[in-house]
Amino acid sequence: MELEEIAKVLLRVAWIAGILPILVAFILSSSSRFHQLLSSFANRGKTFSLFTSNKFTVPQRFFLHFYVVAVVWTTLLLLITWLYAMDVELSTIANHLTDGESHIMSKRYIVWRTVFLLLLMEIQVWRRLYETVYVFKYSPTARMHIVGYFTGLFFYTAAPLSLCSMCAPEVVKFAFHCPAEFIVKGRYEVPFLKFDWSGFVNPVTKLGWFPWIGATIFIWGWIHQRRCHAILGSLREHKEHTNEYRIPHGDWFEIVSCPHYLAEIVIYGGLLIASGGSDLTIWLLFGFVVVNLVFAAAETQRWYLRKFENYPRTRGAILPFIY
Ligand SMILES: NC(=O)c1ccc[n+]([C@@H]2O[C@H](COP(=O)([O-])OP(=O)(O)OC[C@H]3O[C@@H](n4cnc5c(N)ncnc54)[C@H](OP(=O)(O)O)[C@@H]3O)[C@@H](O)[C@H]2O)c1
Repeated sequence: MELEEIAKVLLRVAWIAGILPILVAFILSSSSRFHQLLSSFANRGKTFSLFTSNKFTVPQRFFLHFYVVAVVWTTLLLLITWLYAMDVELSTIANHLTDGESHIMSKRYIVWRTVFLLLLMEIQVWRRLYETVYVFKYSPTARMHIVGYFTGLFFYTAAPLSLCSMCAPEVVKFAFHCPAEFIVKGRYEVPFLKFDWSGFVNPVTKLGWFPWIGATIFIWGWIHQRRCHAILGSLREHKEHTNEYRIPHGDWFEIVSCPHYLAEIVIYGGLLIASGGSDLTIWLLFGFVVVNLVFAAAETQRWYLRKFENYPRTRGAILPFIY
């Protein structure tokens, strides 16, 4: 097995290793020790304060680190994959003239679809970075467990990587090969840098139905998450007021307690559909997002019901009319 294949398997194993304990904890009763251990790792802010010890915790505003990592890493992957796509585009044209090999055509499709997925991810992580700085008012005393912190860092490294897992080995080889070619041949002899600029965009617009249906779902979730985050950010007037909590109203808050988590599931569902659904790694990424956020929503729902006597009983935790 080649090194790149091993990396792909490891990525899948990591997602499964993240999904299984959360699933088990979810199935077990909330009073079981395993469930409580997982909760202490996953809880943050208002739900974390249920646990007294601040040992092995970091400030919740460290959420910012996730999005800095996500923006830098996604942008880097996007740029390299885009340049690689240009390179493939040129070799497709050259090969098409001679024999039009179908495997080159399918490789070309996969690479441009990956560019499309990374573009969507880029839109998501930039907005989250902005919101973390300007919309949410993290209280100075809000904490999260160090395990939750490292899980977040892992997530925003592994998620963009998973979106390009179908062509990651080729992209990595290209990333190493490209600077060497540039140094040896100079700027005007590297083929994809001579390409017409419209060639950077045109292939993305010709990907067929799945990417565009997925992108529409993604944008639907994206818009609602932005609205729900704005509502959450407006609930606390001053950062210093640690215990200032209110019942949120408006948008999807009228149907579930954690519409921002629901919107996140819609966003990653959109990415999955845009990917065509043929890559197991992206399914596992989606699986992790679902179990992680359903688990967090259940904790939040319990907190709301304990905190507010007048909390609307018809609101589900996260999945409208189901849970
Ligand atoms: N993809 C993934 O696996 C994943 C994992 C985690 C998060 N995320 C995404 O990251 C986003 C933020 O998640 P999060 O868990 O940080 O959200 P959150 O805990 O619900 O809250 C975000 C901010 O709003 C405040 N807040 C929440 N409810 C409030 C209320 N009733 N009254 C006043 N203030 C309230 C919180 O204060 P407190 O800190 O005091 O609670 C915090 O400052 C979500 O959209 C989520 O989907 C994604």
